[in-house]
Amino acid sequence: MIKKGIILAGGKGTRMSPVTKAVNKQLLPIYDKPLIFYPLSILMLAKIKNILIVVNKGQLQQYKKIIPDGKSLGIKITYQEQDKPKGLPDAFLLGEKFIGRDNVAMILGDNFFYGQNLTGKLLNSTKLKKGAKVVLHKVQKPEAFGVAKINNKNKIIMIKEKPKKFISDLAITGLYFFDNNVVKFAKKLKPSKRGELEIVDLLNLYRKKNQLSADLIGRGGAWLDTGSIEDFYKTSAFVSAIENRQGFKIACIEEIAYLNKWITKREINSAIKFYGNCEYSNYLKKIILWNQN
Ligand code: TTP
Repeated sequence: MIKKGIILAGGKGTRMSPVTKAVNKQLLPIYDKPLIFYPLSILMLAKIKNILIVVNKGQLQQYKKIIPDGKSLGIKITYQEQDKPKGLPDAFLLGEKFIGRDNVAMILGDNFFYGQNLTGKLLNSTKLKKGAKVVLHKVQKPEAFGVAKINNKNKIIMIKEKPKKFISDLAITGLYFFDNNVVKFAKKLKPSKRGELEIVDLLNLYRKKNQLSADLIGRGGAWLDTGSIEDFYKTSAFVSAIENRQGFKIACIEEIAYLNKWITKREINSAIKFYGNCEYSNYLKKIILWNQN
């Protein structure tokens, strides 16, 4: 089972400037909670309890204000500063010590996943022993994404970044599962023309060994990349619609920890004190009530 995960929560946030000039994108709100809660909740749903969050140099203290160390969630969170955004595979160079001899999951800090059976799929993906697995999702405009073509055994046979000619409408999302070779492979990469290490190059090293497989989020699920202002607000609207209709929150990290039995009522009560008198705290009070027996 994969028990370690990395959240890549640095980045320039150029597309969302000026709002990202002073505050990192992942600390901005998607509806009622900071964006970072969403990818964190995905790793927690995958029962991953040892998490490294990569943040931009100089922004560590801001993150620690909202997520100090994970103890209140019954998990372990450590931080690693990235001096500049060198590309997604840099996560594995920065995280070499954290990864050690284990396999590892990686999620981009600005990716939003939601849907039926998601937890089951995540748990299944954490069973990965050898090779790598990426999560794919069907999109209307594949030319705007990195896309993957798969065979009938869900093996990836081709990957293309923003293909002009149609090869597949399955976009590569920001959620990946890797075996321990990822550190070795990341070290082999050379920066691309735009000066970054590219995730597609890393995935291709696995594909060439016929070791890259796919997991698909079906039509009942949603994947939203919150990289632009427009997508950011669309994701907020999505969360608001679901939460207000159902009365359940998406990505309430304390609720997930509580349902996983990683924390008790005592930690929920401390969280209520920590957040203060707000709607999120009112929801935490309900969690205790709902689970009285
Ligand atoms: P991107 O969307 O590639 O970049 P960005 O968030 O900086 O935004 P923009 O393109 O508008 O400048 O990054 C995807 C996610 O990965 C995002 O959450 C930031 C994070 N990231 C890092 O933490 N370190 C990096 O080196 C890179 C490239 C991204």
